Amino acid sequence: MRGPIRIGVLNGPNLNLLGRREPHHYGTHTLAEIESLLRERAGLDDVSLVFFQSNDEGEIVDWLQANTDSVQAWLVNAAALTHTSVALRDALAGSGRPFVEVHLSNVFARESFRHTSVLSDLAIGVIAGFRASSYLFGLEALVRHLRGSGEAGTE
Ligand code: DQA
Repeated sequence: MRGPIRIGVLNGPNLNLLGRREPHHYGTHTLAEIESLLRERAGLDDVSLVFFQSNDEGEIVDWLQANTDSVQAWLVNAAALTHTSVALRDALAGSGRPFVEVHLSNVFARESFRHTSVLSDLAIGVIAGFRASSYLFGLEALVRHLRGSGEAGTE
């Protein structure tokens, strides 16, 4: 894809508390700091970002529906909804937009209920465990995918 790319960055429940929420799992960056790191990186790639965080599943579905026409892809940390929300899965599938699933923590090194995602099989890929950098890696993967320079099998 040539020209400007617009990506929707979605954060699910409790991620508004980043910075003071279980820093041993999630690191010490606030969500605002992560957004500013992403914005800085995106600017270098001529990518614009639109951010949304909510603790409410219905609001998230509404936001995805309202923004689908104005974005090419999603960067998604659905937080706890990752493990439970068929509504979110259906909204992402219904958008027809590719997405990368990210997690700050290594969900596979944690409780077994975090090992299951109802989103992953729809995602281009999943990045977990790199704290705030998970988002930056996810953004890079999405841009490479959209611009057609990803590894074979991920485009
Ligand atoms: C999380 C992992 C989820 O299991 C958890 O519910 C979160 C955050 C992460 O970024 O590591 O809220 O998505």
